[in-house]
Amino acid sequence: MARLRLAILISGRGSNMRTLLAACRSGVVAADPCLVLSNRAEAPGLALAEAAGVPTRTIPHRDFGERTAFDAALDRALREAGAEFVCLAGFMRLLTRDFIEAWRDRMINIHPSLLPAFPGLDTHRRALAAGVKFAGCTVHFVRFETDTGPIIAQAVVPVLGSDDEARLAARVLEAEHRLYPLALGLVAAGKVWVEGERAVVEGVTQPTQMLLNPTG
Ligand code: GRF
Repeated sequence: MARLRLAILISGRGSNMRTLLAACRSGVVAADPCLVLSNRAEAPGLALAEAAGVPTRTIPHRDFGERTAFDAALDRALREAGAEFVCLAGFMRLLTRDFIEAWRDRMINIHPSLLPAFPGLDTHRRALAAGVKFAGCTVHFVRFETDTGPIIAQAVVPVLGSDDEARLAARVLEAEHRLYPLALGLVAAGKVWVEGERAVVEGVTQPTQMLLNPTG
C-alpha cells in the first residue's frame, strides 16, 4: 500500500503530534508527514515539527473575519501540501460543516475521554466531578458535532482517589501517546473503514480481560 501523505493540525504543545511524527519516521505508521499547520504562531509544537524536518505553516485564525474564510485557507494549505489525510492533535478551533465534509473519513481526532462521555473542554475536571472510576482517550473520525464521529480506538486508565486534574491529565496523556500512533497506523494500513457511522477495524488483536476499579 502507498504511504499516506499526512497533515497534522495543532494549536499548542504538540506532544501528540510529536508521537505521530516519530511513529511515521520509525515506520510504525505507513505515512509521510507533509505539513504541520497551526492556527497560533506561538504554538510550541511548531518548533518540534521543524526540528523533525517537517514543513510547517501558521494560519492565524484572527486574520479571518469568518470561520468559512479561515477553513477555506486551511483547505487550500492542505491541498497545496498534497495532504491526503489529516490528524487533529490539540487543534483548538471548531471547524465548519463544509470543511469537515470535504475531509470526511479522511480526518481523525484524539480526545482525552472515553467518548461519548465528556466531549468538549475541561474534560478531566468534569470526569473528576462525576466521580467516574475509569478515564481514557478516544481516536475517532471527525464529524460536525464536537468530539463525535465513528470511534476507531480507545484506551482506558484508572481514576485514582488521589487524582487532581493535572495527575489525571498526565496519566491520560501517556495513554494518548500510545493510542494515537496505533490508531493512525491501522488507518494507514487500510485496516479501518466506516460502515453506517461505525468504524470497522480489521486484522487486530483485542483485549479479553475485565478491569475493576476498585479491585477489592
Ligand atoms: C490532548 O490532550 C488531546 O487529546 C486534546 O488536546 C491535547 C493536546 O495536547 N485534543 P498536545 O498538544 O498533543 O500535547
